[in-house]
Amino acid sequence: MKPLSIVVLGGTGFVGRRLVPRLHADGHRIRVLSRNRERRRELGVLPRVCVENCDVHDRAALKRHLAGADAAINLVGILNERGSDGSGFRKAHVELTATLIAACKATGVHRLLQMSALRAGEGASHYLHTRGEAEARVRASHLAWTIFRPSVIFGPGDGLFCRFAELLRKAPVLPIARAGARFAPVYVGDVAEAFARALVHPHTTGHTYELIGPRVVTLREIVRWTGHLSGHRRPVIGLPDALGAMQARIGEWLPGKPISRDNFRSLRLDSIGDKDGLGQLGIVATPMELIVPAMLGADRREAELARYRATHRG
Ligand SMILES: NC(=O)c1ccc[n+]([C@@H]2O[C@H](COP(=O)([O-])OP(=O)(O)OC[C@H]3O[C@@H](n4cnc5c(N)ncnc54)[C@H](OP(=O)(O)O)[C@@H]3O)[C@@H](O)[C@H]2O)c1
Repeated sequence: MKPLSIVVLGGTGFVGRRLVPRLHADGHRIRVLSRNRERRRELGVLPRVCVENCDVHDRAALKRHLAGADAAINLVGILNERGSDGSGFRKAHVELTATLIAACKATGVHRLLQMSALRAGEGASHYLHTRGEAEARVRASHLAWTIFRPSVIFGPGDGLFCRFAELLRKAPVLPIARAGARFAPVYVGDVAEAFARALVHPHTTGHTYELIGPRVVTLREIVRWTGHLSGHRRPVIGLPDALGAMQARIGEWLPGKPISRDNFRSLRLDSIGDKDGLGQLGIVATPMELIVPAMLGADRREAELARYRATHRG
């Protein structure tokens, strides 16, 4: 396999931290563009990985960083915006993708791997709507594109099991909106593998891959299982939609925006698919049962250790 020079946008996040070392293992050279490389130095310790400061929304800056690359990977995405009119989602998903496409064309970078999400373009949320618009831009780009549509992604440090484990540790009871919403959680290692394979297999060009795990579970099941594994079993109360919508409205004012009205609108659609994109790429999806217990068990042991230390200090 010929090593490639790859530029990754959004590569400092949860998926990028898994994908970049995976690409590095294939011998590729990787430039990760970050809005603040000082806060994101960990990846730069790999010999052929370089984390560079770049305002990815600036076409001229992007062109400078893309020069000489063989492929670009766009992992940038947000679940929440500052306001609530959709302009933040539009900027991060649609405008950034358009800027990247223009910069790729100007610099002769023909290959583009685009991260999206299941149900992109459907429903009423700004998140899914702008994801769909970004996909349309990619398909119309005349670049050699591949699009990935994952369900929710799990793995160490995820925003799903780890986040709920944290909430369950603090809350005596957990009221959740859209508790019956269904997901097919997919392992972050499998997502990284899908990108790595697509990059070196030209037949993936012009295709969209749904990345789903082997099991469909509801949000309620996810939260209950998390409580069981992390040692913080709490009553989980599924809120009727009227109360769920109210919780989402209040959530927008809380630190870290645990839930927003836009999240609530996205949750109205099940994040499940009917095509096994991992299988199409020759990857056997990793079951949650193989990863999550050890992941949360480690969390639990650390929490117990911290409690032990706190009570035995001095
Ligand atoms: N995690 C999931 O369950 C899941 C499920 C479906 C789809 N996805 C999609 O997969 C991609 C990667 O997910 P992730 O969980 O790794 O996300 P993440 O941890 O939030 O990382 C995304 C990265 O994008 C950059 N970024 C964030 N907001 C930006 C903005 N407004 N403008 C420019 N850059 C921005 C950040 O890099 P810097 O701060 O270094 O610039 C950040 O490290 C995203 O597109 C996400 O929507 C994720």
